[in-house]
Amino acid sequence: MSQNKFQLKNLASGKTTEYAIHQGSVGPEVVDISTLYRDHGMFTFDPGFMATASCESRVTYIDGDAGVLLYRGYPIEQLAEKSNHLEVAYLLLNGELPSEDEFSQFKHSIHRHTMLNESLRKMYDGFHHDAHPMAMVAAIVASMAAFYHDTTDIYNARHREIFAHRIIAKIPTIAAAAYKHALGQPFIYPRNDLDYTANMLHMFFAVPCEPYRVDPLHAKALDLLFILHADHEQNASTSTVRLAGSTGCNPYAAISAGVSALWGPAHGGANEAVLDMLEEIGSADKVPQFLARVKDKQDSVRLMGFGHRVYKNFDPRARIIREMCHRVLAQLGDTNNPMFELALRLEEIALKDDYFIARKLYPNVDFYSGIIYSALGIPRSMFTVMFALARTAGWVAHWLEMIADPAMKISRPRQLYRGPAQRDYVAIEGR
Ligand code: ACO
Repeated sequence: MSQNKFQLKNLASGKTTEYAIHQGSVGPEVVDISTLYRDHGMFTFDPGFMATASCESRVTYIDGDAGVLLYRGYPIEQLAEKSNHLEVAYLLLNGELPSEDEFSQFKHSIHRHTMLNESLRKMYDGFHHDAHPMAMVAAIVASMAAFYHDTTDIYNARHREIFAHRIIAKIPTIAAAAYKHALGQPFIYPRNDLDYTANMLHMFFAVPCEPYRVDPLHAKALDLLFILHADHEQNASTSTVRLAGSTGCNPYAAISAGVSALWGPAHGGANEAVLDMLEEIGSADKVPQFLARVKDKQDSVRLMGFGHRVYKNFDPRARIIREMCHRVLAQLGDTNNPMFELALRLEEIALKDDYFIARKLYPNVDFYSGIIYSALGIPRSMFTVMFALARTAGWVAHWLEMIADPAMKISRPRQLYRGPAQRDYVAIEGR
């Protein structure tokens, strides 16, 4: 904490007060206005949290202007090149990279928790075949509260650890079961001899009547996508997990709230929306026409996969994934993939366009992720589920950080009320 102060003067009342300025380890300083209401009888107004730090955190740091993303201090580029999703999950949960022993114990624990309780599995049968998989995943994750409620004392560190391992281990099984249910295929049990993403591909694509071999490049591409999506500090879904979790609710319920928040097209649903958009555009010659609609303020169309609340220069994850896109498509002999060609053409035109330059709109990670998922055979309706699967590690890390903090408070924002002032009830015949 620095000794710097922020002075605030209410010009109407003439009252001046000083507020502490907190210095993070990196990044902008933060003015602590928690006593503003007591001092001035006023709230701050910041819809969308444009300039409000909602918590203190040590998990992830983003410098949106410089295009920097650090998990526990490690640059995303290094983790993408040298690490793997499970190691990144360990890092996010525990704050440090694991030793060999620690990692092998962690992997063992994750591998021992991959199965779903059979009663939980039967719940899928209650869904129509065309239910959106995000609806199923949100429901099944929330239902885990009913299965593990008696062993989840959130104030017991060991219980929290079991919860963390359990949800990270089971979320691929939950996702795969949703996929198989939609296809009408039999559920495939996890294989604990496979690593995390290979097991996920196995549960998605194996069928009981023939052998299935996991392609190592597919597993690698998926693992990379999972690393890139594992955490992103106080984004909408993580903030939702924190807000729900701050009430002391069951942690599976808090994670399920995060799954629901992620679903929207402005957040995790963007990867699905990008492919819908590319399909709607259809061909490169229609790009200028489409961009004209995007720029027209009377039209609600947005260029999906472009823009980010925090990155105003470039999204470092997008650079990494763009390169992986080329590798996956080349390996599949699909370098002339029409969707990828169209995406590159759209990107090229948009990046030169004054509208996007002036607003600092660049491709985000989800501009490309859907193209890789498609190439791997993952259907569009499952894209956001993939994102949820990866982000579970981050949600859990933030929940753990919040619950373990003795200063934790229930999150309760204030409001600028503009509704009617007090008035008297009028009986129906008098209205
Ligand atoms: N296409 C066209 N115009 C856009 C876009 C876009 N994708 N994104 C922002 N703008 C414009 C807005 O219309 C606005 O223009 P104006 O100043 O003339 O009114 C300006 O840029 C600022 O936009 P905001 O909506 O205020 O920016 P905000 O930071 O609130 O939104 C968001 C960020 C939601 C990601 C937005 O850029 C968007 O909707 N993008 C498309 C959806 C998307 O790709 N989401 C994925 C995000 S990344 C993730 O979740 C992994």
